[in-house]
Amino acid sequence: MGIERELIELLSQVRERSGGVATFRLGSTPTVLVTDPQAVQHVLARHPELYVKRSHRARLLIGDGVLSATGTAWKRQRRLLQSQFTGTGMRRYEQRITEAARTTAGRWDGYARTGQTFDVGQEMRRFALDAIWRSLTGHPLDDETERELAAVESVAAALPTLPTDAADARGAVAADLARIDAVAHRAIEAARGGAAGPDGPGLLRVLIDAAAEHPEYTDPLIRDELVTLLVAGHETTATTLTWLHLLLDRYPAAREEALAAGEEGSAQRRQAIQALVHETLRLYPPAWILPRHASEDDTLAGHAIEAGTDLLVCPYLTHRDPELWPDPEHFDPRRFIAPDGRPTQPGAYFPFGIGPRACLGLQFAVRETTVLLEHLLPVHTPVFHSIPTKAAYGITVRPDGPTPAVLKPPLA
Ligand code: HEM
Repeated sequence: MGIERELIELLSQVRERSGGVATFRLGSTPTVLVTDPQAVQHVLARHPELYVKRSHRARLLIGDGVLSATGTAWKRQRRLLQSQFTGTGMRRYEQRITEAARTTAGRWDGYARTGQTFDVGQEMRRFALDAIWRSLTGHPLDDETERELAAVESVAAALPTLPTDAADARGAVAADLARIDAVAHRAIEAARGGAAGPDGPGLLRVLIDAAAEHPEYTDPLIRDELVTLLVAGHETTATTLTWLHLLLDRYPAAREEALAAGEEGSAQRRQAIQALVHETLRLYPPAWILPRHASEDDTLAGHAIEAGTDLLVCPYLTHRDPELWPDPEHFDPRRFIAPDGRPTQPGAYFPFGIGPRACLGLQFAVRETTVLLEHLLPVHTPVFHSIPTKAAYGITVRPDGPTPAVLKPPLA
């Protein structure tokens, strides 16, 4: 049994025994598990200044990008990116997301014609990487860059097991880091020299141009933001889509209901597809634990929290609390359609986090998953050769194994 599998079992037992705010020992470290919605809100949204993020290890990969930045640097970085990921900023990337969805749908048409076996999880990673890469650079993801960017995943996967000494850790993944830096350097130079495409400049160009007003945006910081957005914005979306396909295999009626909800392109169809995404995120929130560190003494739901305490906020367990979510193990997208289908208090459903450090890419993620499913669901049904029976609880919670499938041939 892997360490992470033990962790989810330990956390489930702690919650069952001691409730929504529970102190336990993780190894020798006293740790507080937070699953009660009000306590979740207290930690993440009401008092983010008391409960801070620490990301020593991840810094090796994402440096000073917005995910790991703190204080005024974080505020500045967040403000700039926020304008890109909401409202009119977001509209600029919609065409690129649609192009990425069309490319994947085209590949799936090919698999259906030839009867070729392919891996659904790998396809979803390819799509998510293509969508974010197009948004960053204005160009589709080419095969060579895709191969080189596998280094991002290798470093991310190695992070939990790297030596604690920073220099040793860097040494252990030096070759992969060099590969990532080379891709980033190439992309930044191309963005600096290239003309904006028909959809306007890519996000990288926005970061480059920001240097005129904010000299902090040097190439190393732009590299860090680029890698941060690749890391934060690709594995999360890809695992969500992979879980969704696996869940639809198990609950075929949910797919039929979504497709029956309205005509192609209608608001009802879109809402029904988004409900599939949200119900998947309820059962498998990719960021299944959100670690925090108490910077000062505090009282949380009647529990004294000493400065220096580590906390694990756990959406995975909150989303499976039967008092909040009746029959929690059951996949039922109608929860997200019926007006009284789900608990509405903040902190009962938070796959994207809540508060000032909540996901910057929420709109992007909902958009890309919906658009891809609008393309795939009416045409293609994966028939899996085998289905992983367990989840792997690493940095994200993902299916523990390959997901090989074929597609039914299209109707003549
Ligand atoms: C932060 C989830 C997709 C960019 C977060 C956090 C969560 C999350 C839970 C907060 C972590 C914490 O509070 O400790 C997800 C899920 C996604 C997704 C479930 C997909 C289904 C994306 C995408 C992007 C993105 C597509 C970028 C295009 C970010 C960034 C942060 C973040 C930059 C850090 C924000 C900050 O610290 O200010 N995400 N995310 N995410 N996410 Fe996402």
